[in-house]
Amino acid sequence: MVNFKGVDILDGAQFSREEIEHILAVTAEFDNRLKTEHKVALADGYLMGALFFEPSTRTRLSFEAAMHRLGGDVIGFADAGATSAKKGESLSDTIRSVDQYVDLIAMRHPQVGAARVAAEAAEAVVLNGGDGAGQHPTQALLDLYTIRTERGGIDGKTVVLCGDLKHGRTVHAGVELYKHYGCRLVFVAPDQLRMPDEITASLKSHGVVVEETTNLEHALADADVFYMTRIQKERFADPAEYERLKGSYILNRELIERVNPGVTILHPLPRVDEIATDVDDLSGAAYFRQMRNGVTTRMALIALVLGLL
Ligand code: NCD
Repeated sequence: MVNFKGVDILDGAQFSREEIEHILAVTAEFDNRLKTEHKVALADGYLMGALFFEPSTRTRLSFEAAMHRLGGDVIGFADAGATSAKKGESLSDTIRSVDQYVDLIAMRHPQVGAARVAAEAAEAVVLNGGDGAGQHPTQALLDLYTIRTERGGIDGKTVVLCGDLKHGRTVHAGVELYKHYGCRLVFVAPDQLRMPDEITASLKSHGVVVEETTNLEHALADADVFYMTRIQKERFADPAEYERLKGSYILNRELIERVNPGVTILHPLPRVDEIATDVDDLSGAAYFRQMRNGVTTRMALIALVLGLL
């Protein structure tokens, strides 16, 4: 029996397959209902704090859209420079303050582990919308939902993850979900941006088939899903290192049409130059549909952790 009431959503590794399936099933329900309704008023009277200590377009706005479409309300900030964090207030104190006002907290923060710190400080449920180069579980769930809707299933698919696998929190969370579905995982990254060894080792110890390569074209050739990521400029200590590595891997239309025209292409966005805009109108380019799924997946998570279903 799956029960998410009061459960903080912090990490892709926290879920069993049964729990993931439950979240995806609720997401599918909201997806259906939003085709004919503007609102599914389950969260009337509930208030969410959206605390974004780091830039965000999709995660913040889709969390807010999700709460509004559930009939709830939102307070929060998108610029921590305008809060008491600027005066030196600790994260725990900021969270304990907001905790006095709201029923749940969606947050993003530049430090790895920040969402866990917040969850310990708050009585309200905490949803991690990205903690530095750590985890981004709500994104990973919407990615998984997108794979199911685009490909008709997840089990046994070959999923290629490409780009900045060292700092990419969406892929760190994603692999923890794919491991429940017998997916074959192929990691494509420059040497300096490889998936952290402890993550790869842990996947292998769970029996996941993992391959690593620096060759994008080979990996693309037998991918069901190609998940591209942005080189995370803001995580580099040395700007010259970023300059050397940016543009390492670029998908364009010619390459996809030649090597694997049936592939599904995902990207959490924002992109810089790693997917050329001429890819956007290919039928397999799913990254804008993926974004829309962010609203329904977050509706499902909010409704579940508030115990409204
Ligand atoms: C990602 C993030 O912030 O981790 N974007 C997102 O949440 N949709 C990926 C990125 O910033 O590159």
